[in-house]
Amino acid sequence: MTLDPEKVRAAYPALAEGFALFDGAGGSQTAEPVIAAIAATMRSAVSNRGAVSAPARRSGEIVAAAREAVADLVGGDPRGVVFGPSATALTYLASRTLAQGWGAGDEVVVTRLDHDSNVRPWVQAAGQAGASVRFAEVDLSTGELPVEQFRELIGDRTRLVAVTAASNAIGTAPAVRRIADLAHAAGALVYVDGVHATAHLPTDVRELGADFFVTSAYKWSGPHYAALVAEPALLDELHPVKLLPSPAWAPDRFEYGTLSFELLAGMTAAVDHLAGLAPSGAADRRGRVLASLGAVAAYEKGLAAKLSAGLTAHDAVTVLKAPDGGCPTISFRIAGQAPADTARLLGDRGVCVSSGDYYAAEYFIAAGLRESGGAVRASIYHYNTAEEVDRLLEAVAALA
Ligand SMILES: Cc1ncc(COP(=O)(O)O)c(C=O)c1O
Repeated sequence: MTLDPEKVRAAYPALAEGFALFDGAGGSQTAEPVIAAIAATMRSAVSNRGAVSAPARRSGEIVAAAREAVADLVGGDPRGVVFGPSATALTYLASRTLAQGWGAGDEVVVTRLDHDSNVRPWVQAAGQAGASVRFAEVDLSTGELPVEQFRELIGDRTRLVAVTAASNAIGTAPAVRRIADLAHAAGALVYVDGVHATAHLPTDVRELGADFFVTSAYKWSGPHYAALVAEPALLDELHPVKLLPSPAWAPDRFEYGTLSFELLAGMTAAVDHLAGLAPSGAADRRGRVLASLGAVAAYEKGLAAKLSAGLTAHDAVTVLKAPDGGCPTISFRIAGQAPADTARLLGDRGVCVSSGDYYAAEYFIAAGLRESGGAVRASIYHYNTAEEVDRLLEAVAALA
């Protein structure tokens, strides 16, 4: 199964503006069916969930469909899908809820590879509970998160291990399953940040060993809305603070206020869109998602290899090290140039990248690069083309 870039690109209206968009890691462009689904929902009669009228039943159906869609995307159970405004908000909710059971002597393991949204909520929750925090280090010479260190970091007082499925800074996809096995052997839970990985790699939360998996639809062609996926039985054990009249059952009791029905319709449309990127004979949507994202991974890998080779060919360009097999996300610096200046100059040429630490703060502090502006990030998404990679490389050549 392969991607047809022209067909894929036609589904993204924003690409008509002509920018070379290498900032999908900060948010991909929105696919047309997603825009249509959001607009159609807002144009139709929808009221708050209930059984009293067709518009009330419609909102319930939208929520149920979105839980099914996200479950198909990541291999979860629809009854364990919780929605919220962002991965950060959901992780704060999870951290406060889990920390209710922590106390002095308990430990939490986080990593310096992670986006801060899967670090700080745990550090703060542990601090409030009197628990301590242990950090897994990145091997800066390779960009790997070595698994062996987790044997030392995880002990019988470890309550939770928080780890990313892929780095939004350098693309590294750690061996989450092996880390999860170590955590589970010690009786700890595993919270996986799938925000970066979901768009680029086929995901199976059970294969990963993730007790919790968080993902944000705006990174995979959808709207700015997020989901936390867990086994329903695990959610049943947890009791977030909540309003008196709000639902007492999971997953609804984890959801604060009225859900955004229009964004949920957009989320479902985004999953359907992803499932159709590379047509396959799979009978169900889960199978189509896996086939499509397999094709996406292969396509993006080719572009990333071209970009990486082109960047490393410049003496003045330093590419931050990352191991093979991760996401197509490359951070680099041009000698003598602040990353923010590089990004701005590329932006002036219509080539859109990010700069700074992209909230992967611990990684950039450990690398000693945060004070001097972090790095420039070129992140590849499935609508990017080889011609755009050439355009990026030509623009870098003009600056380096
Ligand atoms: C790896 C990773 N985790 C978490 C987040 C935060 O996601 P959200 O904006 O949904 O809170 C991001 C956003 O860039 C990310 O890249």
